[in-house]
Amino acid sequence: MPALEISEGILTQFAEIVYKNSGIIFRDSNVAVLISRISSKIKEKNTEVGIYLEQLKTDKNELLSFIDFVTTNFTSFFRNQRHFELLEESILPELIKRKYNRQIRIWSAGCSTGEESYSIAITVKEFFERNHIDLSAWDVKIMGSDISLESLFIAKEAKYPERSVQKIPPDFLKKYFTPLDEGKFYFVNDTIKKMVKFDFHNLIYGSYIEGVDISFCRNVLIYFDEDIQKKVLTQIYNATNENGFLFIGHSESLVGLFDKFKPTSFEKGIIYVKQ
Ligand SMILES: C[S@@+](CC[C@H](N)C(=O)[O-])C[C@H]1O[C@@H](n2cnc3c(N)ncnc32)[C@H](O)[C@@H]1O
Repeated sequence: MPALEISEGILTQFAEIVYKNSGIIFRDSNVAVLISRISSKIKEKNTEVGIYLEQLKTDKNELLSFIDFVTTNFTSFFRNQRHFELLEESILPELIKRKYNRQIRIWSAGCSTGEESYSIAITVKEFFERNHIDLSAWDVKIMGSDISLESLFIAKEAKYPERSVQKIPPDFLKKYFTPLDEGKFYFVNDTIKKMVKFDFHNLIYGSYIEGVDISFCRNVLIYFDEDIQKKVLTQIYNATNENGFLFIGHSESLVGLFDKFKPTSFEKGIIYVKQ
């Protein structure tokens, strides 16, 4: 199939629409992704690029669907294992001591298809069990949010193909998942599923989220420029309780970008804490 011809001007308008509505920035280094996504949409809809661009300007649903289409949703269960060790061995013990109201709120911001949120839930469940603390006496809620409706649909369904569960420790897989179709798929069990709620939320807009003790915003900020990164971090900061915690991706850093979350050393590594 011949490559789709898109003029510089039209491409810029697509990039501006995506940036304005999601914060996701396309530069020379990744513009090929945008071109490929536009081409697929044009083909799927059997339309022309100029007509589709005009549709995006007026049709909110199509805009949402296009933005969903340009997001990068790569994720996995227990991605960066060290974060989950840090959560279980340093952060949760500290929270348990200080949360007299027995309420813990965890936000997985940019949760994609839900693997991160469920990994958090399993870690919390294991922590309570290993420390002989009655989880039912606590009010623990995990919220996964994303801008991608297709990802949220998968997250809510909690059904994952075999290849997605391969790195889950076998004892966790046995304990917290149910195989289906001779192990071709795995369902997250209800004990874990009911600890997590998923919701559509655009990180660049004002937020209704508050009272968060721990936020995970991992591998999301990399898609934004510095202005949007600061805006998103301010939102997370405002949503977080005093001395609350923030996990970002292991290759990301807030140094020189946002100093209201202070990098703090724990036995298993460094984590950002709201001052
Ligand atoms: C690479 S995934 C990261 C998933 C998970 N946090 C992890 O580390 O495995 C990035 C996610 O950020 C979401 N995202 C991008 N822009 C967003 C925005 N403005 N608001 C909310 N989510 C956004 C994407 O839809 C995508 O699911």
